[in-house]
Amino acid sequence: MKILVLTSGGDAQGMNRFLYQIYKKFGKKVYACKYGFRGLIDGNFEPLKNFEPFKNRNQAGSCIKSARCPEFATVKGFKKGLANAKEFDWVIVLGGNGSYRGACQLSDNGVKTIFVPATIDNDVDNSEYSLGFHSAVKACCQYIKNTMPSMEAFNRCCFFEVMGRHHGAIAQSTALALESDFVICNEDDVDFGKMAKVVKENAKREHSSMIVVRENILPLSEFVSKLKNACPKVDIVGLRIGHFQRGFKPTKVERAMADAFAKQTIKVIRKKGLPSAVVSVNGKILAQ
Ligand code: F6P
Repeated sequence: MKILVLTSGGDAQGMNRFLYQIYKKFGKKVYACKYGFRGLIDGNFEPLKNFEPFKNRNQAGSCIKSARCPEFATVKGFKKGLANAKEFDWVIVLGGNGSYRGACQLSDNGVKTIFVPATIDNDVDNSEYSLGFHSAVKACCQYIKNTMPSMEAFNRCCFFEVMGRHHGAIAQSTALALESDFVICNEDDVDFGKMAKVVKENAKREHSSMIVVRENILPLSEFVSKLKNACPKVDIVGLRIGHFQRGFKPTKVERAMADAFAKQTIKVIRKKGLPSAVVSVNGKILAQ
């Protein structure tokens, strides 16, 4: 039996842990496809062992490399990838919604494929949880907690921009955990009048203000300048948390989730089950 694993799109905490568990179970039978679907098109395969899955098991990132590959969505690119995928008995794809579509396409064309949700955005259809989310939220909380004492010293207001592409899950969970003054998850949440009222009041009481905002709504500089217009006496700062969210060490919860996703994947392979996705539904990890 030959198993191929690939990680696609933004790397996410838990990917390495998952790879380690698959390696631990199937050893030499497991091959890594470097750089996601790009590697599938190029036939860029190597034994997973070469990437030291044991050493990397608790690290962030993806030791087998990741990539975004629009070419896989073209007829020519897909054909090449499909021909290479057919060398393997199983192909395991870790990634977000785009990768899910790629995995389904392979499966529809006769490749036994298992998709595993892994993106910090936590926006994968059919799965309550995707690997990386817990660690990304923890990263945001740590970053903000370590910044706010300095904001408090000047009674500043700070916008913290978090990732999520077009999904507000990271912003929402971070804001809830830290009891921020405002959270902006989508366009409808933008209300400079409301923000100004709270920010002015906080400054009057000699306190800072914390606003968590999801990326891709307005440029951070625009948030800062528009709020500055509404409260010119308050010092307003905009900070982008950025890739710290993906580079942050996987949390204990993340590692446990990756183990659970791997366990279910192993089950599907051992039982010679149907090609599927391994997803989290109602708090359980299931093959669908
Ligand atoms: O999809 C994961 C993600 O981290 C998004 O939250 C973000 O918009 C994007 O990837 C950033 O991608 P890149 O690392 O390619 O800049």
